[in-house]
Amino acid sequence: MSSLTPREIVSELDRYVIGQGEAKRMVAIAMRNRWRRQRLDPELREEIAPKNIIMMGPTGVGKTEIARRLARLAKSPFHKVEATKFTEVGYVGRDVESMIRDLMEIGITMVRAEEREKVRVRAEKHAEERLLDLLLPSPTPKPGGYSFTPIPDPAAPSAEPHIASANDSTREKFRQLWREGKLDERMVELEIATQEGSGVSIMGIPGMEDMGGQVQDMLGRFFPQKKKLRKMKVKDAFDALVQEESDKLIDMDKVQDIARERVEQSGIIFLDELDKIASRQDHGGPDVSREGVQRDLLPVVEGCVVNTKYGMVKTDHILFIAAGAFHYAKPSDLIPELQGRFPLRVELSALGADEFYRILTEPQNALTVQYSALLGTEGLSLSFTDDALREIAATAQRINEEAENIGARRLYTIMEKLLATVSFEASDMGGQSVTVDQDYVRGQLADIVENRDLSRYIL
Ligand SMILES: Nc1ncnc2c1ncn2[C@@H]1O[C@H](COP(=O)(O)OP(=O)(O)OP(=O)(O)O)[C@@H](O)[C@H]1O
Ligand SMILES: [Mg+2]
Repeated sequence: MSSLTPREIVSELDRYVIGQGEAKRMVAIAMRNRWRRQRLDPELREEIAPKNIIMMGPTGVGKTEIARRLARLAKSPFHKVEATKFTEVGYVGRDVESMIRDLMEIGITMVRAEEREKVRVRAEKHAEERLLDLLLPSPTPKPGGYSFTPIPDPAAPSAEPHIASANDSTREKFRQLWREGKLDERMVELEIATQEGSGVSIMGIPGMEDMGGQVQDMLGRFFPQKKKLRKMKVKDAFDALVQEESDKLIDMDKVQDIARERVEQSGIIFLDELDKIASRQDHGGPDVSREGVQRDLLPVVEGCVVNTKYGMVKTDHILFIAAGAFHYAKPSDLIPELQGRFPLRVELSALGADEFYRILTEPQNALTVQYSALLGTEGLSLSFTDDALREIAATAQRINEEAENIGARRLYTIMEKLLATVSFEASDMGGQSVTVDQDYVRGQLADIVENRDLSRYIL
């Protein structure tokens, strides 16, 4: 779990998301509270439930972006799902509990990667031996029975050492060559386990999509894993072997225990588009099933036990951060029980020209930086003057006001239009430099901005 302080979390988020200070502070506190809770007596710790959050705000103002960046910082299992993906239990589709199974899957992947890293040195040693076995056919197969088929390298001189029987000195010579990276590009054939499962498919049975993995996993214990001979480069073969060897060295039971603990104590679920399953009471019909999803959500958010293929997972302390535009529906249109489970509400504000200007310039991955880097690959150096950026920002705000407010996403359509000519011609313009100034922006965009009908379609 990340031990960043709220201030540090906010300043990390500041590097990518402009403004929205209140929302950043709120998620920062929620994250820090996980860390604080871990430091309490077990007895009190059990009592403290996470305070779930709803982020409200118009489209394109950074709700999902905050969640995405938070996920990177969190160093805890983090899963983002759209509430609209779920259907009420008993209907065709994914049931809400599947998000806990997915979160657990993420936890497992995370912990397994850490454990693999711990045994890396040993696994690499084993993998190197197996790689040499592959490269050097030994006259008597080893008891382990690795299969190997060296493929003759047509470019190599005919007196290749690997044709000779594998005595110790050639093996050492090969080891040397491999370590120097001289064999990387050569091809070998390697037998590896395939992902295709045991050929049993229960996909297509309504509501059983999630069971697919579990059943296959179960069957996998009875049927040997399918293996397949694949031709690949030596360096890729090595990576595959390291994976296989490290999986032999790590204890999957331990991985599961650590992962379950981590998911239960520090997992975060980001529930996007929550407003889309909220509905006003008075009209029935299709809304019945939305309400059903909300009801199904209740126990998961409140705390229940979900059966996953890695065992039971308790959801009591998983943090839920929900988001939605809440244009039509309001949080008060959610069923009352669910409202109560999201006590923290924060509103993200609409963005204007000033924010757009900052979005264009400040983030590490700002659009201007992205375009300059892209065109840089053609040898073209692209730069923007300050007044050009102001002009772009002002245009974005204006179009948002006149057409529809799509927030910062407007900058994408404008930049694309603005740079359409340069992007097309860049390949023939190597070595040149282009400076986008205010006149250029006006020149490229004026016609479209002035013509409201046109701007509706193009920007
Ligand atoms: N405050 C911001 N700072 C920097 N970039 C932003 C900001 N708001 C939005 N963006 C950029 O705009 C794009 C859309 O933002 P995001 O996906 O967060 O929208 P959203 O609020 O989740 O909207 P929706 O309700 O449509 O899901 C992203 O690429 C994001 O980088
Ligand atoms: Mg979003």
